Amino acid sequence: MTNKQSAKNRIEYLRNLINDLDYHYYVLAKPKISDYEYDLLMKELIELEKKYPEFFDPNSPSVRVGDDRNTEFEQDKHRFPMLSLSNVYNKEELLEFDNRIRKSLNDKYFYVCELKFDGVSISLTYENGRLVKALTRGDGTVGDIVTDNVKTIKSIPLILRGKGYPDLFEIRGEIIMPFKSFEKLNKEREEEGLQTFANPRNAAAGSLKLQNSKEVARRGLDAYFYYLSSENLPSDSHFENLQLAKNWGFKISEHIKKVDDIQGIMNYVEKWENQKNNLPFAIDGIVIKIDSLRQQELLGYTAKAPRWAIAFKFKPDTALTKLLSVDFQVGRTGAVTPVANVEPVQLAGTTVKRSTLHNADYIKIIDLHYDDYVYIQKAGEIIPQIIGVEKEKRPKDAKPVIFPEFCPECGTKLVRNESEAIFYCPNNNGCPPQLKGKIEHFVSRKAMNIKTGEATVDLLFDAGLIKNVADLYSLKYEDIIKLERFADKSTKNLLQSIEESKQVPFERVLYALGIRYVGESLSKTLAKHFKSIDNLMNASFDELVAVEEVGEKIAQSVIDYFKDENNRKLIERLKNAGLQMSVKEDQQTTNILHGKSFVVTGNFGTPQRRKEIEQLVEKYGGKKVSSVSKNTDYIIAGEKPGSSKIKKATELNIPIISEQDFLEMIK
Ligand code: IVH
Repeated sequence: MTNKQSAKNRIEYLRNLINDLDYHYYVLAKPKISDYEYDLLMKELIELEKKYPEFFDPNSPSVRVGDDRNTEFEQDKHRFPMLSLSNVYNKEELLEFDNRIRKSLNDKYFYVCELKFDGVSISLTYENGRLVKALTRGDGTVGDIVTDNVKTIKSIPLILRGKGYPDLFEIRGEIIMPFKSFEKLNKEREEEGLQTFANPRNAAAGSLKLQNSKEVARRGLDAYFYYLSSENLPSDSHFENLQLAKNWGFKISEHIKKVDDIQGIMNYVEKWENQKNNLPFAIDGIVIKIDSLRQQELLGYTAKAPRWAIAFKFKPDTALTKLLSVDFQVGRTGAVTPVANVEPVQLAGTTVKRSTLHNADYIKIIDLHYDDYVYIQKAGEIIPQIIGVEKEKRPKDAKPVIFPEFCPECGTKLVRNESEAIFYCPNNNGCPPQLKGKIEHFVSRKAMNIKTGEATVDLLFDAGLIKNVADLYSLKYEDIIKLERFADKSTKNLLQSIEESKQVPFERVLYALGIRYVGESLSKTLAKHFKSIDNLMNASFDELVAVEEVGEKIAQSVIDYFKDENNRKLIERLKNAGLQMSVKEDQQTTNILHGKSFVVTGNFGTPQRRKEIEQLVEKYGGKKVSSVSKNTDYIIAGEKPGSSKIKKATELNIPIISEQDFLEMIK
């Protein structure tokens, strides 16, 4: 046997072995060997794959370690729309649900009771036993392709086990972050001075959307699956299909239960209301489904949710704890938000140390005093809130919590707009957290998308290198490289990202300025209407309120922003730096390919040309995708196009066009 042949055999052997070990460790929670031995096997596989790239397999267990390169998410349409569930909050409503079912079906039926995992829903597609695509819910019709990230979740099978699965199917489930991983992650973030996640669901959602799958792999995500969709499922019973899916390697909850009637449902609900905090992950209710797929189909769907299923949502948990102190935090707009520090308390499986107090009025309404015992509530996704005070436990000499008159950061007297509950620090151009906050907003992804983190902004700000957003465009290599955590590559990356931001369209520049009340959508409207910053700057109050979506409050805020000499200077500097301060003529035509997706394949003379064509697709509002599916609208084929792509396109009747045809299309 040649070296190559024996390497191939060894690679295959290791892949099968590691897949099996992963299954036993992550799905069954019954490890077969020690972590040390496992690491050795994985290391050997990775080395062999590096040496023999010709044996690359996208579903090798080595992909689970992730990749450091940044990836942007492409989108794709769901084959079956991802609907939501109708919610009920009490037992009476559950009885009503059962009555509706009984009337509609007129036949014997069973229910399946399941835990309602509090995470992020995901839809996986398997073709011939291999994971080919992972899509987030998105808007239910179109989701983000997050396959690379999902592959790092070790309990998700990349290649199925056993037999009997359909050639093509989708399985839907929930990506969750178990409490253990959540606490570890937040601890790390706290130490690094990063914002912590409010709950495991946000942490799971944030992690799944990271653009670096290596980081995703570190986050300790897990996934449970609860629904199969395919034209040819093995059984009419949802319950049985899930048991089969377990044999194929999916993690299916052991707590799922098939019951005969509403009494069975009630027992299940009661059991989990009492035991939900004993689970290693968060659930926010119970899901009840009709077991028979035939009956599911008979019952059908409303526009938003299936009629054959319902979610029973648990009441939010509350806890009583002691108020230790109150922080008055200053945000980027100068708004001062009171945040309570409380004696750490367990609430719905997590430890709560801080809780929002909304605003000054709220503190008065609940009549909050220092050293009070307070009730904290966590309603699913929301940050814990103080909902009331236990007055009986108030110490005699307790002092009321008073909202400060002066900014806790810069000492300026706070102001309050007549119609609003919020106090602001008016020192917009001198108050440090406001200055930092404005820069953080400016660089954020939806704004200028300059790839720095909050920590970098802090670093640059604290080093005195930037005081406002215009200073970003004067940063020099020599300044940045001196900073802690910066090396040659990261410095160049930052400078390049700043340079690239000069191409960000005007509407996003407008959003990035952070004018109060001018969010993403309004920035678009204003950019479209006024076309340039100069026009907007010179617009009168009446001209502004004449624009749809713009009310008096917004108009006044825009006027105030541009009246400020500092802001006018800032805009002048940004203009001089080369930012887009007007709608580009060709932006008016950029949307002609909107909603169309293109696969570009083959040679177009040079690799650059192919890139240019792909850029044109995006420039004109189209979507560039890498593989052909029924959602692809056109194939742009050069010389020697990919034969499997052409075959698939022909099968699916997708037009195959030349570069010339394409250029005609956008002319
Ligand atoms: S079934 C057509 N089952 O809850 C299938 N959903 O509030 C509909 N969820 O979007 C979903 N646990 O993300 C189903 N056992 C479970 C679930 C579950 C959590 C999530 C899911 C859904 C949301 C609706």
